Order: sequence, then C-alpha cells, then structure tokens
Amino acid sequence: MSGLRLPAGAASLPVQYRSEFAAALLSGLSARPRSIPCKFFYDRYGSVLFEWICTLPEYYPTRTETALLRDRSGEIARAVGPDATLIEFGAGAPWKAEVVLDALERPRGYVPIDISGEHLRAMTEQLKRKRPELPVEPVVADFNKPFSLPAICEGSRRVGFFPGSTIGNLDRQEAISFLRRAALLLQGGGLLIGVDLVKKPAILHAAYNDSAGVTEAFNKNILARANRELGADFHLDRFGHYAFYNPAEQRIEMHLVSLADQKVSVCGHSFAFAEGEAIHTENSHKYTLDGVRTLAEESGFRAPSVWCDPDRLFSVHWLEPKAPA
Ligand code: AVI
Repeated sequence: MSGLRLPAGAASLPVQYRSEFAAALLSGLSARPRSIPCKFFYDRYGSVLFEWICTLPEYYPTRTETALLRDRSGEIARAVGPDATLIEFGAGAPWKAEVVLDALERPRGYVPIDISGEHLRAMTEQLKRKRPELPVEPVVADFNKPFSLPAICEGSRRVGFFPGSTIGNLDRQEAISFLRRAALLLQGGGLLIGVDLVKKPAILHAAYNDSAGVTEAFNKNILARANRELGADFHLDRFGHYAFYNPAEQRIEMHLVSLADQKVSVCGHSFAFAEGEAIHTENSHKYTLDGVRTLAEESGFRAPSVWCDPDRLFSVHWLEPKAPA
C-alpha cells in the first residue's frame, strides 16, 4: 500500500511481516464491515495465549482431539502407513504431532510449518531434545502461500497433518484452495485432519467466552500487536471481546467492538470508530461429518476413515487423494 509510514521501532521486524501486517490492517480498517485477518493473531504473545486457550476447561477441541488421536492411534497408524514424513501445517501444539509420531511405524521425519518463527524454533528444540533420533526440519512460512519443503521431504512418502480444526478458520473457498494445494505438496500422500463439529451453541459459546478471559486477551492481542509493531494507539480497554455462534453460517464469529466514539491512529492514518462499531477478527467454522466429506470430495480427496469422540464434539479424518478419473 502506498503512503505507508511506519514508526521507528517497527524497523527491527522482518520487512515482509511488518509491511504485510500494516497493509492488511490499513485495508481491513478502511473496509466496511471492518476486519483483520485472523492469521495476525499469532505473534509471540498470541501464540502463547492460544496455547493457554488450549488448556482451558471450556475449550474442548484440544483435549478432545488429543484424546482421540491417542485412543485411536492404532487405527490411525494403520491408515497412515509406515515410513511417512509428517508435514504439519500450522504447528501450534507439538504434543499432537508427538502422539501421532509415537504411533506411526518407522516415521522418517517431522516438518512443522508455522508463521510464528520464534514459537516454531522453541517447539522444535524441545522436540529434538525429546526425540534425538527423529529428523526435524521446521519451516517458517504462511502455509496459505507458496513455500519450499526441506530436503528430508525429497523422495519420502509425505503425509500431511492439519490438526486443531484450523481449517475452520478458513472460508469455504480458502479451505478448498488449501486442500488442493496440500494435495499437490503431498505428491500422492494423504492428510490427517482434525475438524470441529457442529454442536449445541451453548458449548460453543462457552469455548469462545471463557471465564478466565484468555480468549478476550487473545482477541485483543491483535490490537496490542498493532501498537507494538506499528506504533498504533489502540486503547485495549476501549474495545470489547464479542464472540457468538452464527447458526446460519455454522461458525463462531469473533469481533472487537468499540466501546466509545473514538479515533485510532495506525501508520499515520486516522480511523474513527463509532460506539458499537465492530472489527471482525475471526471465523471458526464448524462442520458436520457429511460436510467434511463433501469438502474433501470437492478438493480432490476421498475420506475413507473418520474417528469421533463419544460425545461427537470433534472429528479426525484420514483423507487420500482421489485416483485421477
Ligand atoms: C486455531 N483455531 C482453530 C482456533 C479456533 O478455535 O478457531 C483459534 C481460536 N480462536 C479463539 N479461540 C481459539
């Protein structure tokens, strides 16, 4: 975006992230309705806050998926097969990959891909200490954009791992594009994917409005990040966390609602907010089992196996590329 003026402190950031965040913020705040892409939640602080969310009693997805991966590990390992290099898209929570790697027969390596370099490095060091025999090659990248895989993937059987229902943070077209790109990258290998399910709205509401206020802090961190990195002057106490389930769209929506008439300055641009005006920060789509199958089919995969917890809160699917017609 032209006319972008960044404050002096921002110069220490890698230029591509600094300018990408600045450009996304300026265009998102200029649009109506206002929005900020949710991928910008995940700086160092946001990644830690998200890890904290994963431990909260109300946030059922992490513990349900982890238990599912552990309880059905034998069946999952049989579906995935031996000698796989596991490629994780958006590697926020190392313990899930560890559960899968523990179950797999002769895993050849692990390639975690994440946008947050610091977080990825810390997690990789931890994993290397625990499993010194396993080749681990992290890739710092936005997996929704083109990137290269490390040498350990050459000539090996590639298996994708996309847990946590991160696919739910993409809209339908983005989800289909992601799955199609994943199919190309995996060169015939399958994809193990965790998907959150449609359920009683009260359970969903509690999961995104936790009593400790961690999700609120996570949501507001996107404004705090703009202050830290771009010298913006958001007052965090003048915005309210608002998360609700939209049944027509089968998704949780997260917003930050202005609690007063106010002006905010970002990179030399001034933005006026009326009281009650919202910035849409995240969608978290929930699927039915049939919905996942249809999505997979539309994206060039078939879905031969699915595992669910007894309460049908969460699902893990094994997707294989459809044979060319
Ligand atoms: C990463 N993603 C799948 C989480 C979700 O549930 O959509 C992010 C999150 N947002 C609020 N709480 C958790």
